[in-house]
Amino acid sequence: WALFEDDIEAILRLKRERNAVILAHNYQTPEIFHCVSDIVGDSLALAREAQTVEADVIVMAGVHFMAETAKLLNPNKTVLIPDMAAGCSLADSITAADVRALRAAHPGVPVVTYVNTSAAVKAESDLCCTSGNAKRIVESLGTDSVIMIPDEFLARNIGKETGVRMITWAGHCEVHERFTPGEIRRMRQEHPGVVVLAHPECPPEVVAEADFAGSTAHMSDFVASGKAEKVVLITECSMSDNLAVQHPKIEFIRPCNLCPHMKRITLPAIRHALETMTTEVTIEPHLADRARAAVERMLAI
Ligand code: 13P
Ligand code: SF4
Repeated sequence: WALFEDDIEAILRLKRERNAVILAHNYQTPEIFHCVSDIVGDSLALAREAQTVEADVIVMAGVHFMAETAKLLNPNKTVLIPDMAAGCSLADSITAADVRALRAAHPGVPVVTYVNTSAAVKAESDLCCTSGNAKRIVESLGTDSVIMIPDEFLARNIGKETGVRMITWAGHCEVHERFTPGEIRRMRQEHPGVVVLAHPECPPEVVAEADFAGSTAHMSDFVASGKAEKVVLITECSMSDNLAVQHPKIEFIRPCNLCPHMKRITLPAIRHALETMTTEVTIEPHLADRARAAVERMLAI
């Protein structure tokens, strides 16, 4: 911790001076998650909390689409992202023109868009979802078919749960697509009694091998419930690191995959963002209203 002390002290001071809060996703490293953040959570919680921030500045310790969502929901605040290159393979997989083409090919079918997308893609959508509410959002539409983009695996997993026919897009999370069913079977052999929790961005064959599938917040709640003494989280590595700090009596088996985008956010990067007030996230006015409407429709359900 001596290594981090200087940055942590500077960040805590700068937050007071700038009247700033730090929102951190569950995949941020423990020194960010536990030492400098004001609000932590999954994508859904961060969106909800961003809406009610009263401070002047929001620093998003997460990836670009999360910062954009915060800006959409609280447009009068200055929203900073400590590294503009913190993207997402899902957000990069689809453009607004792709959504328009899908709509034209499937007239009348509602478009549900994962929040892991650009504001331009959100602006072409009927409503958004996160992994924490995708099932509820799809069921709320009451249709036989849904265009669910861009995460093919999330769409197939939710299609299985709801019985709704999914028109999908070939976007994948580069972290979760790498897990395999064989890996889970091997873990069960090596660690008898382990409870397997998987993120729904994993391929359906992987989710089928798990005991529980849910968003990062759902995984957190499951671990906190004390239902399991030994767990493996089929997701990004920092998730287990953060939970292990909070639940020292639970054994965490730790095969995991790193998200290179989340890992661009570091204490020095956050410190630099607050010192220089960069980089500010802005959304083109012609997109903002339509993108905001898609996110707000989600939050209202
Ligand atoms: P959650 O919404 O479950 O936190 O996951 C989103 C995600 O993959 C962030 O990268
Ligand atoms: Fe995107 Fe996957 Fe990284 Fe989340 S973990 S930011 S979905 S690449």
